[in-house]
Amino acid sequence: MVERRSVRSAPVRGRRVLVRCDFNVPLTEGGEIADGRRIAEALPTLHHLQSEGAKTILISHLGRPGGRKDMRYSLRPVARRLSSLLGQPVPLAEDCVGVSALQAAARLSNGGVLLLENLRFHAGEEANDPGFSLELAQLAEIFVEEAFGTVHRAHASTVGVPKRLPAFAGLLVEREVRELSRLTDRVEHPYVAILGGAKVADKLPILEGLVGRADTLLLGGALAFPFLADRGAELGATPVEPGLTPELRSFWEKARQAGTRVELPVDWLIEIPGEKEAGACPADRVPPGAIARDIGPRTRDLFYSALTGSRTVFWNGPLGKAEDPRFAPGTREVLAGLGTLGGYHVCAGGDSAHLAQELGVDGAFQYVSTGGGAALEFVAGLELPGLAVIPPA
Ligand code: 3PG
Repeated sequence: MVERRSVRSAPVRGRRVLVRCDFNVPLTEGGEIADGRRIAEALPTLHHLQSEGAKTILISHLGRPGGRKDMRYSLRPVARRLSSLLGQPVPLAEDCVGVSALQAAARLSNGGVLLLENLRFHAGEEANDPGFSLELAQLAEIFVEEAFGTVHRAHASTVGVPKRLPAFAGLLVEREVRELSRLTDRVEHPYVAILGGAKVADKLPILEGLVGRADTLLLGGALAFPFLADRGAELGATPVEPGLTPELRSFWEKARQAGTRVELPVDWLIEIPGEKEAGACPADRVPPGAIARDIGPRTRDLFYSALTGSRTVFWNGPLGKAEDPRFAPGTREVLAGLGTLGGYHVCAGGDSAHLAQELGVDGAFQYVSTGGGAALEFVAGLELPGLAVIPPA
């Protein structure tokens, strides 16, 4: 674990400090914050900066507005939540660069906190445009990286700005690195990773990175479909991500060489057109027209027995279409089983954490990371550009 220069050592009194946060929180249809965990997790750093007399300027993205101003992705609800959590008004500047941002930053007094509007209203953010980075950097004298959930992105605010200002790690980033290092360089074995969800092409490099680190990989949900299809399984009308055969073969070869155990579902709960109740079938024999929606009871037992005796467990992604109560048992029962076992259990990402909470099984975890993609890349041993750019302690 490389320790990064900490915000605790930053000379912040009376200085303008630009803090990159990950306030990318889920919103309800009415635009209210559905899960404010990521905002609450930034409070220790914000309190530190307030008590040290910094002039704090917060920046973040929310959603994927695609480089255009789209007020459905405004940070207004976050400004309201911050004001109530900090017990002082946190104004929202209407833009993150330009005159409105510069003027709002200049008005800050020591201990004051300001939020700037969504970074992704500008295409320069995701493009890591040097001009955009410069405009952001001009707002402040010091940069603090607090957005652990976004350190896997090489964007203007995560890489461009910290190259232009003295950069420090925030307290949340420090904590995430310390806790997740228990899954990289301080692992207690046996170590089991449970992975589900979709976007298989994106997750294959993660799976390859976990080979040889984890002792066992348990793959469920849509992630398992291409693996089974590649072995000739009949998957009915289940949508399978195509064109992954070379990557899957290389994954199996690496897993074989490293001696990593990989378990795939052996049965499914299925959706049958025109029927309300879920059906069940072996994993390689989904009837024509039916869709695999959740791991079945035999797979739950298989996963539970693979977890028994483990000392470290990492989980990301649902094992079925868990938002539909008919297809929630796979995720719920595996995590409920995990909750009865000892060891250090980590849940990665807001969506997974939210789901575990909805299913009433969040007690299974000793640590919940605010990072989804970032935590996956971290535990797979990939370099995170937003961390690499912060000087070592
Ligand atoms: C996340 O929610 O994982 C982070 O905020 C990064 O968001 P992104 O996937 O849209 O870059």
